[in-house]
Amino acid sequence: MHIDFHAHILPGADHGSSSLETSLQQVELARQAGIDVLAATSHFYPKHESLSGFLERRTESEHRLREALPENAPKILVAAEVTLCRGMEEIDGLEQLCFPGTDVLLMELPRDFSIRAYEQSLDILQFERKLNIVLAHIDRYSDTVVDFLLDLGFLAQINAESFCRWRTRRRSMAWATELESVVALGSDMHGCDTGYRDFLKMKEKLGEAYDLIMGRTQRLLKL
Ligand SMILES: [Fe+2]
Repeated sequence: MHIDFHAHILPGADHGSSSLETSLQQVELARQAGIDVLAATSHFYPKHESLSGFLERRTESEHRLREALPENAPKILVAAEVTLCRGMEEIDGLEQLCFPGTDVLLMELPRDFSIRAYEQSLDILQFERKLNIVLAHIDRYSDTVVDFLLDLGFLAQINAESFCRWRTRRRSMAWATELESVVALGSDMHGCDTGYRDFLKMKEKLGEAYDLIMGRTQRLLKL
């Protein structure tokens, strides 16, 4: 099973797709690349908007897309990419941002992230709110931050692009082949420009490790 865990494909839900036409093109690109399950992880910035406002926009956008989806489209799972902010642990209803039927939340770190400033929030989200947090695109963060968060028990997702850039590819390859906490891979598709070019390259480079990670994603999402 081929699962793209991270993509911005809901029309107008964030800056990933400005129209239904773009979203349908993105879905078609995924189908052509052999993707079976495509996660719609629209950006949610809790610092700048309410959860209810986001959910309303996402639901409306999801309906528009589902009504227009061709029969052969990949299965679409609607979730979110949540940007961590101070006080996020106090927001009611965060569970609605998880992947359907799970406690799995895709979370990215804010620009001003520091372990000291956010340690308590992360602790509450993980142990009191009992969210199973997958860190989005760990390839964007420093070794210190990634090591610290994975030691705490967070799971990790890597972006396809990072396997194809000389600056990041060695580190991403090492993580993907050595760490069991890498549970997902994603295109992080915004628009249609590069489509699945990097995703397919990543698949080839990873070989068996790709299948192992896809197996982990499948189990995590109970697919
Ligand atoms: Fe993203």
